[in-house]
Amino acid sequence: MEQQVSPWWKRAVVYQIYPRSYQDSNGDGIGDLQGIIQRLDYLKELGIDAIWLSPVCKSPQDDNGYDISDYQDIDPMFGTLEDMQNLIKEAKKRGIQIIMDLVLNHSSDEHPWFLEAKKGKDNPYHDYYVWKDGSKESPPNDMKACFGGSAWEWMPELNQYYFHQFSVKQPDLNWENPKLRKEIYDMILWWMEQGVGGFRLDVIDQIAKEPDQKITINGPKLHEYIRELSRETFQKGDLITVGEAWGADIERARLYSAPDKSEFSMVFQFEHINLDQQPEKEKWDLKELDFLKLKEILSKWQTELYQTGWNSLFWNNHDLPRIVSRWGNDSKYHDESAKMLATILHGMQGTPYIYQGEEIGMTNVQFPIEEYRDIETVNIYQERLSKGYEKNDIMNSIYVKSRDNARTPMQWDDTKNAGFTTADPWIKVNPNYKEINVKGSLKKKDSIFYYYQKLISLRKEKPIFAEGSYELLLKDHPDIFAYLRKLGNQTICVIANFHGKEIKFSIKDLKLDITNYLIQNYEDQKEGILRPYEAFIAEVKESI
Ligand code: GLC
Ligand code: CA
Repeated sequence: MEQQVSPWWKRAVVYQIYPRSYQDSNGDGIGDLQGIIQRLDYLKELGIDAIWLSPVCKSPQDDNGYDISDYQDIDPMFGTLEDMQNLIKEAKKRGIQIIMDLVLNHSSDEHPWFLEAKKGKDNPYHDYYVWKDGSKESPPNDMKACFGGSAWEWMPELNQYYFHQFSVKQPDLNWENPKLRKEIYDMILWWMEQGVGGFRLDVIDQIAKEPDQKITINGPKLHEYIRELSRETFQKGDLITVGEAWGADIERARLYSAPDKSEFSMVFQFEHINLDQQPEKEKWDLKELDFLKLKEILSKWQTELYQTGWNSLFWNNHDLPRIVSRWGNDSKYHDESAKMLATILHGMQGTPYIYQGEEIGMTNVQFPIEEYRDIETVNIYQERLSKGYEKNDIMNSIYVKSRDNARTPMQWDDTKNAGFTTADPWIKVNPNYKEINVKGSLKKKDSIFYYYQKLISLRKEKPIFAEGSYELLLKDHPDIFAYLRKLGNQTICVIANFHGKEIKFSIKDLKLDITNYLIQNYEDQKEGILRPYEAFIAEVKESI
């Protein structure tokens, strides 16, 4: 038989922390590294293997840390380098690896490289960024930045524009320049020496941009750059690496996550995430989720990457609304639907990512516009107002899609500010913290928290979760998400009622006999029906 030792991260579950919203330890209203250290025991109890930390490096915080001004220091807001070293050490003691967020497509405009670069065209750092000659009146082309406005910013002192795919304070780095690439690799090797267990690569599919040809994602040299990056850094360690790639299709994902490790361990691809927006429009242009399409797409990724690549499994992150509000039900069936969504995802092949608060079913918020902090949200509000959209419509889109839905403080308990801070928090706490919080979840035996804990331990106990094949059942059923996983002579089935009504269902109709329930979100079973959002995973045998 073929002897293959799976890399550790194939059975791992990753937990994402957005540091400014996790736990404040020094009473300034902002989460920090010491705060995270205080919560490591909680995470150990949940059972996760690694923490992906959104950026904690020095930054003017124009885009909450995704604008880095020193890649080798910690922002004072979060603590010190020593705190970071402590976090790495304390996490390791508990069997948890720290995954750093690497923002390599752009830096802050306050990074010393950029401060030098803008001094003159012959400054050695000038070529670290992407410039175009021109005149103030006419930018090189009509490319738009992701956070609104032109992608070109005029620099009168140079008579040049610089290119930025995100905010004006996030100038794009020029990956064509080998000196820049070398500096980046040295920086990564330095973090590896500090003991980090992996990296998440921010918008990595945008590094090979060619603005002359209006190319942002998937530039011609993309995979060449990534292979060099991987060879010069990641391949020298036993790391988990994940690239953020909004533009990934199956073929590219196979390159990114090739088993020969020539690029990354895996990528985040977002095909399922766009299913509730109008085609060819922006995420703010809402439409109902197409459930059949959701099944089709998630299933396609399961079967197509089987043995040729590796999936990341996620519903949430710091850029996405809360899944229980989005595709579940955040009122009457809050717990049932949160568990149902977890069941579908954690039953699949790949590495699951849990976003902070997902494990207690944190929900979206509806704040007045002044309470939003996210640059994207604030900008789209202004932009759409000036285009003549109705205020109510804009706010409705913001309630549904704003990134701040994910960024409200972690709800630890029912005391003031949910136990997140003793000061005024940098962004308001979700008013439902008295009902939804960690303390309450830990006390309740059938809480969402313990459901996640069980899902995580199942993945560790049963190789079928990481290795089994995948087969979608009831493809055209408008309410049921059902699939089989198979490994050797074992089979498990994952069955979920995706909606809030009772539906007819019998496992016998699938020619299956349940031999053992592994997890379920209702206490008992009812023959012949699935109750609202009912879901379970069971070991089965094919019946005759
Ligand atoms: C990624 C990050 C997002 C950030 C952007 C620019 O999409 O997840 O939060 O704003 O990149 O760095
Ligand atoms: Ca703090």
